[in-house]
Amino acid sequence: MFKLAEYKPYLNEPSTGRSKDATISPTINGMDPEHALVRPVPATFAQALVRNGSRRLNASVATEQHQTYQQQLSKAGYTLLEVPTDDRCPDCVFIEDTAVIIGSVALVTRPGARSRRPETGPVAAVLQQHLPTVVVTEPGTIDGGDVLISGSTVYVGRSQRTNGEGIEQLRRISATQGFDVVTVGVYDTLHLKSAVLPVGAETVVVTPNSVEEEQLDGLRVMFEDETERFRFSALPLRDGRLLVTRSSPRTVARLESVGYEIEAIDISELQAADGGLTCLSILF
Ligand code: GLY
Repeated sequence: MFKLAEYKPYLNEPSTGRSKDATISPTINGMDPEHALVRPVPATFAQALVRNGSRRLNASVATEQHQTYQQQLSKAGYTLLEVPTDDRCPDCVFIEDTAVIIGSVALVTRPGARSRRPETGPVAAVLQQHLPTVVVTEPGTIDGGDVLISGSTVYVGRSQRTNGEGIEQLRRISATQGFDVVTVGVYDTLHLKSAVLPVGAETVVVTPNSVEEEQLDGLRVMFEDETERFRFSALPLRDGRLLVTRSSPRTVARLESVGYEIEAIDISELQAADGGLTCLSILF
C-alpha cells in the first residue's frame, strides 16, 4: 500500500515530462464508459440546497454552463442521454447523486436529503433500459457524490448524506461485483468528491484536512492549492483530456506541469450550489 506521506511531495516534483497517470485513459471498473446521462437545469434551480453562502443562484447562467459541460462530453465521444428535468426538484441537475454504476449493475441511491429523493425514479427508468438496477432501501442513505471507484476498490464517504446502513448496502452489492469498500470520513464539506477528485485511474486531488486522508492509502494523492479550497473539481474524459474547473488555476497549473491535457470550463454557478464536474453526469 502507498503511504500517504510519501505522496505529499508529489506536486512539488520537477516536471520530467508526462506523468504516468496522466497518460492513462479514464476507466470505470476497467471499462470505458460510452454513455453520459445528464439532466438539464430546472427553472427552480435558485431553490437548490446550499450548505454555505447566501447569494441568489441564477438558473439561466447555470443552464449556459451546463450546456458547455455537455458540449465537452460530446466532444470527448460520449453518447449523451437525457433525463427530463423536473421543476419540483431544484437539485436534479446534480444527477450523479441518484445512481452509482458498480461493475455491471446500477445502484439507485436513496439520497440523504429528503427533498432530493423524488429525483431517483426517472433516472432509474432510463438506466433500467441499459443495466440491471438495484435500489438502496430505508433506512440507508447514499449520495452518489460520496462514491469514488478506483480499480477494484469503492471508496465511500461517511458524510451528512451517506449513513452507515447505506454503506452496508453498498458493501453487499459491491461484493457481488468483486469490489472492496473502504469508508472515508468526510469533514467540513458536502460529499467525498467535493474534496477528493479522481484525475486518473489511481490519482486523486485532495483538499487538505477535509477527509480521513489515511483511508486513501491505496491512491496516489496530490493536493489542492490551499488558496483554492474546494474550488477544484475534475472529470477525466474518455478522449484522454481532463475536464477541470476554471475557478482553480493554481491547482490546474500543477496538473499541467506533470503532463495532464487540460480542458478548463466555468461552472461557477453550479459550484455555488455545491456542485462539481462529477455531479453533472452518470457515465456508463
Ligand atoms: N445542492 C446539491 C446538494 O445539496 O445536494
